[in-house]
Amino acid sequence: MKKVIISGTGRSIPRLCITNEEISKYVDTNDEWIVSRTGISERRICQEEEAIDLAVESARKALKSSSINADDIDMIIVATMTADMATPSMACMVQKEIGASKATAFDINAACTGFIFALSVGESFISSGKASNALVVGVDTLSKYINWQDRTTSVLFGDGAGAAVLTTGNQSGIRSFYTKSYGDLGCNIEVGGAPIREIFTGKLLREKHPYISMNGKEVFKFASFAMIDAIENVLDKGQLSIDDIDLIIPHQANKRIIEYASKRMKQPIEKFYMNMDRFGNTSSASVAIALDEAMEKNIIKKGQKVILTGFGGGLTAGAVLVEF
Ligand code: COA
Repeated sequence: MKKVIISGTGRSIPRLCITNEEISKYVDTNDEWIVSRTGISERRICQEEEAIDLAVESARKALKSSSINADDIDMIIVATMTADMATPSMACMVQKEIGASKATAFDINAACTGFIFALSVGESFISSGKASNALVVGVDTLSKYINWQDRTTSVLFGDGAGAAVLTTGNQSGIRSFYTKSYGDLGCNIEVGGAPIREIFTGKLLREKHPYISMNGKEVFKFASFAMIDAIENVLDKGQLSIDDIDLIIPHQANKRIIEYASKRMKQPIEKFYMNMDRFGNTSSASVAIALDEAMEKNIIKKGQKVILTGFGGGLTAGAVLVEF
């Protein structure tokens, strides 16, 4: 089996920054409530950009930092739940923009766990010899689906993209991954869907919820269990204990969920990378953006062991254990 390494990362975030104070001009909320319940102070929202712009910028940066040419990429996987179009896929659009003409390109949707699922798919293709170099992108523009009058959801999300290049190497690379889906709990986070209309007359037959609807308490409970479960599973498969891990990069949904995990696993909170204060929950992009920041800040050093982990709509959860 070939060893699969993360050889480069990149990120892209929209220009417009919306602070908690700005949101509180439109809905009955305030900075103190949002920060204390979620850890989020501001988020970036697309106005001039579309998801494809963010995906392409993050992909180009990841390629540059990996020193792999677009020509040598033979697989592009984009994790997203907010593609700009139903077709072409975001992955095919990225392929066109970066000129990766030899690649097979496709999207996957595992909501906020998307980047973890996409890494595990890329790893499987490369380790089995069916691909050599994969570009994995997590991108979401959930702002398209936010009801800005709903204070229970509008304060939580932001837009963004992050990318990683997977290739083979001599280092340890990805030691283990774990993915799991909980379809029976899917009703706890629902987003969008076109209404069903009568053929020819166009009469509305069935409305679909156009905006994010979420059972916050149930998702909180699920996340608190599922993230720890995913971490324990990758540790088990990677034959390591939590004390061997240098850094955990969790999905950036809520600081309190991460604090809970830190307590339950008896690990210092400093072991958990957090940036939700600046970006909110960017769904499929969240772990990828945080990984790229941690690489850029030199927080992750050669030889260190890092767990990337997420949970989200579907419901889904997962983790990847990487030795850098
Ligand atoms: N500002 C001010 N008050 C708000 C508010 C806001 N933005 N949102 C909700 N409230 C109010 C509620 O209306 C409620 O008021 P009431 O007691 O008068 O009814 C009160 O705050 C408490 O609401 P509750 O839902 O119990 O808050 P909470 O502590 O569970 O926090 C979430 C709500 C959404 C922050 C929390 O449940 C959460 O983070 N869940 C996980 C969500 C998540 O991670 N989703 C993404 C998954 S990928």
